[in-house]
Amino acid sequence: MARIIGISGSLRRESFNTSLLRAAASSVPAGSSIEIASIREIPLYDGDVETTQGIPPPVQALKDLIASGDGLLIVTPEYNNSMPGVLKNAIDWLSRPPADSARVFRGRPVAVTGATPGLGLTRLAQAALLPVLRTLGTSPWFEGRLEVASASKVFDKDGRIVDDAIRARLEAFVKGFVEFVENLKVSRR
Ligand code: FNR
Repeated sequence: MARIIGISGSLRRESFNTSLLRAAASSVPAGSSIEIASIREIPLYDGDVETTQGIPPPVQALKDLIASGDGLLIVTPEYNNSMPGVLKNAIDWLSRPPADSARVFRGRPVAVTGATPGLGLTRLAQAALLPVLRTLGTSPWFEGRLEVASASKVFDKDGRIVDDAIRARLEAFVKGFVEFVENLKVSRR
């Protein structure tokens, strides 16, 4: 049994990436779950706000939620061959203060996937996350790989997957990550 927290790197209402995250949540093996959280309320990181007011409540709430779970799934678009600023900004806030970062990130199993209406597969966005995940001391899951291109043909207008091959690959991806999370839990007992 694994309880995974999922975040989308897009704030767009009709986001392909949020649709992919929802589809992932619906394809979790019985007994496990993907709980979808949002980065929408995370303010822009400002060191003065941190110094004078502390960690903003939406940041604290998301930190606590991630810390309460067994793993983190990041589903992100690619912007200009990197991750979107809103996602990096959220991760930056979530890593504050440094003394509390380990509770949220250290050793945490993390899987990354993404969707694009283009042909580029979001690989550079996923690669851009690697040094961030490394510096935070996470345990990234590298075995499974899922990149969704031509997303407007993969999802219908309601955000449901209409491509059977992608649906099957998503199910295998989610199953593989759940197993990774479960195995890590067992090995750390
Ligand atoms: C993009 N897009 C994009 N796509 C891609 O495959 N590689 C890229 O480098 C970029 N760069 C980029 C920059 C900016 C600023 C924007 C706004 C968009 C297109 C992007 O994949 C598309 O807008 C997706 O629909 C975004 O994901 P959501 O919102 O549908 O999840």
